[in-house]
Amino acid sequence: MVMDQMHKMKEMKNQITRFMMMYKFALQELETKIEILKEEFHLLHAYNPIEHTSSRLKSPKSILEKLYRKQSELTFSSIRSNIKDIAGLRITCSFISDIYRISDMLKNQSDLNILEIKDYIKKPKPNGYQSLHMIIEVPVFISDRVQNICVEVQIRTIAMDFWASLEHKIYYKYHQSIPPQLLEELKEAAESASALDQKMERLHNEIEAIKEEREDDIGDEMIRLLMNNQSFSIPGMLLDLFDEGELK
Ligand code: GTP
Ligand code: MG
Repeated sequence: MVMDQMHKMKEMKNQITRFMMMYKFALQELETKIEILKEEFHLLHAYNPIEHTSSRLKSPKSILEKLYRKQSELTFSSIRSNIKDIAGLRITCSFISDIYRISDMLKNQSDLNILEIKDYIKKPKPNGYQSLHMIIEVPVFISDRVQNICVEVQIRTIAMDFWASLEHKIYYKYHQSIPPQLLEELKEAAESASALDQKMERLHNEIEAIKEEREDDIGDEMIRLLMNNQSFSIPGMLLDLFDEGELK
């Protein structure tokens, strides 16, 4: 009898591990895709659109709590279809335009299936929260099959991220009922963050325009090569070594 129970427990533990593992793999797949887009973007535009990324797996405890809140059945297939944020990826960008660039790049990847987009930048939440949320289905290939796994992707600027992490702390400190005065101030802070984002974007565009003008003036004195986040400069006169597009 005891052996039977122990066997059952072991079997359950194995199943949960296998279930969670697929979400971990989906995150790894998506992180690699983001890393490639980041490096390619850096190469083409000579700046980093992504400041940093972070990922997390929801704990089994939080999964069960959410399942209970949603009054859903306790089965793996019910968890899969009812809880779309078991795997979460957060991408922090420099500018608002980068957020849409990155979401467009993800939309264009034929192996990804975008299930949902919530644009809290165009339409912030009443408390002031801003971010672009996407639920993306990622195919994960394992030894005997392929399974589509949902990942919740949150894309935001540094200012939006700063605001969200502070709001999150306050929300938990006051056990979800924040004093009205503080709510008002948080909303104002969100508006300041948004104004800062717009100003930084405008300045960035101005700097880019000046940089382009300069590059036109200088011509191709130096050729910049970016590889593996390192920048190399090559004298433009090396171009003379080229014969019909090939090094002699
Ligand atoms: P959940 O059931 O909580 O997942 O909400 P939802 O299904 O309506 O999804 P939504 O896209 O609105 O939010 C998903 C996630 O975004 C949350 O789990 C948080 O990480 C983040 N988020 C949403 N709203 C807020 C907010 O007001 N403040 C902060 N700090 N984070 C938020
Ligand atoms: Mg959530």
